[in-house]
Amino acid sequence: MTNPTNCPVWHDLSAHYQEILPLQMRDMFTKDGRRFEKFSLKSEGLLLDYSKHRITDETLPLLFKLARDSKVEEWRDRMFTGEKINFTENRAVLHTALRNRSNTPIYVDDKDVMPEVNRVLAQMRKFSEGIRSGTWKGYSGKRITDIVNIGIGGSDLGPVMVCGALKPYAQAGLNVHFVSNIDGTHLAQTLEQCDPETTLFIVASKTFTTQETMTNAHSARQWFLQAAKDEAHVAKHFVAISTNANEVSKFGIDADNMFEFWDWVGGRYSLWSAIGLSIAIYIGMDHFEELLQGGHDIDLHFKNTPLEQNIPVIMGLLGVWYNNFFGADSVAILPYDQGLARFPAYLQQADMESNGKFVARDGRIVQCTTGPIIWGEAGTNGQHAFYQLIHQGNRLIPCDFMMPLESQYSVGKGGNEHHLILLANCFAQTSALMQGKTLDEAKAELVAQGLSGEELETLLPHKVFEGNRPSTTILFEKLTPRMLGKLIAIYEHKIFVQGIIWNINSFDQWGVEYGKQIAKKILPQLDDGKESTDYDSSTNGLMNYFKFNK
Ligand code: F6P
Repeated sequence: MTNPTNCPVWHDLSAHYQEILPLQMRDMFTKDGRRFEKFSLKSEGLLLDYSKHRITDETLPLLFKLARDSKVEEWRDRMFTGEKINFTENRAVLHTALRNRSNTPIYVDDKDVMPEVNRVLAQMRKFSEGIRSGTWKGYSGKRITDIVNIGIGGSDLGPVMVCGALKPYAQAGLNVHFVSNIDGTHLAQTLEQCDPETTLFIVASKTFTTQETMTNAHSARQWFLQAAKDEAHVAKHFVAISTNANEVSKFGIDADNMFEFWDWVGGRYSLWSAIGLSIAIYIGMDHFEELLQGGHDIDLHFKNTPLEQNIPVIMGLLGVWYNNFFGADSVAILPYDQGLARFPAYLQQADMESNGKFVARDGRIVQCTTGPIIWGEAGTNGQHAFYQLIHQGNRLIPCDFMMPLESQYSVGKGGNEHHLILLANCFAQTSALMQGKTLDEAKAELVAQGLSGEELETLLPHKVFEGNRPSTTILFEKLTPRMLGKLIAIYEHKIFVQGIIWNINSFDQWGVEYGKQIAKKILPQLDDGKESTDYDSSTNGLMNYFKFNK
């Protein structure tokens, strides 16, 4: 199948959408006392509630048929067995091998990748334990207190998000920093917090050619050498994570200080690889391996569970339902856990870099909308910022609420005062979005408040909530390394399912390259002293304004 819209079940879904459109979820809940039991599942230490969706008993069977007709299961198996499904780069897609805790052989070009995966994990363990125990010393004999990960995109977002989420597991006295932006402010403000004698730089870049990362790394090296004076000390303070050994050695980092990964690890899936070194140092290798275990748990779930009970499949299909039939163009990720504050940003790359494609696998234009806009914010902060638009705006925004049963911290009266308030808010939002408030209900409330006549009539329309706004809620036990691994992998596979249905290659990112090429051309022209004429009049105008007004 090249075009999902030609699939007969696509037409059935379009017809079904017309039937669903006038239905209100609140009525569906009233009519069916078993709706929650029907449309929720418990697995992997979490509860997935998808009952607050605009679906009936007919909807999911149609969507499962779409998944089967799109050969989601076959593509899934092709991915797990190391086939080169990223055909535009001729690469396998095997981030699942990095967390293959069962250690079953996985072959790429007839070679089992697991011995190499395990070799690098052992190298990470040895190195991280050396830093954490203080046996690895800086050039002046002091132990390392600050880790600075220099990377961008997948070489930054995953480690940033995970280190933020798993802070309670961090070793006291060990700080982790992340420098990604080429804006010198990012590096400068980070270095202000560091001492060259006790800082370790991890230069994380799959290609080791990314302009931002290499420039930041060179500037960090300069800063370090101003204090250390001797190039020989670099070996104690700079390590590299890359697939590109040549470029690493050109930078001056020796092979012993290089942690390897492979072209079959996409940048946005690389936190599971040596790119996770900052995580392993910060929370310890045992915890890092628990994170991997969580990812592996979900891999097994995704591989072995029938579509009807398969968490990533259900989430992916519901996304297709809104994206392609309701025309919803974004998804809000709303974690009610401060630890997951960077989870929406992490998912932006995971999802939008994967499925932001307009060309199908066969090279033709895709005939349906592909990847949605991903955005969001942690917990109640979002409520006081943008939830108004989700509640009463005139766009449909499906939401993913995520909430732990237990907080990482005991705070307030009884040790859980804060957590109960957080829970109440999360549940209240999903309920309000679904339920809405009718004109009659709004009127009764205003009357009860003593309003009447013109005053009441003026206010009334503004107090009405349409409701019928869909949300998924994921309740998970606690934000542990293993649970975080599960949550990340669920979304990775959800994105995979959608990419297969849309018939796109979710694993390349050619679009990002185009801007990079132009930036390379513009850079030397910024201080050539000449008037720019090579581009459109806007770009020329901006460049010339900079050149002649700075
Ligand atoms: O943003 C494009 C991209 O290629 C991402 O896919 C990748 O995660 C990021 O750049 C960084 O690339 P690298 O790890 O090679 O420096």
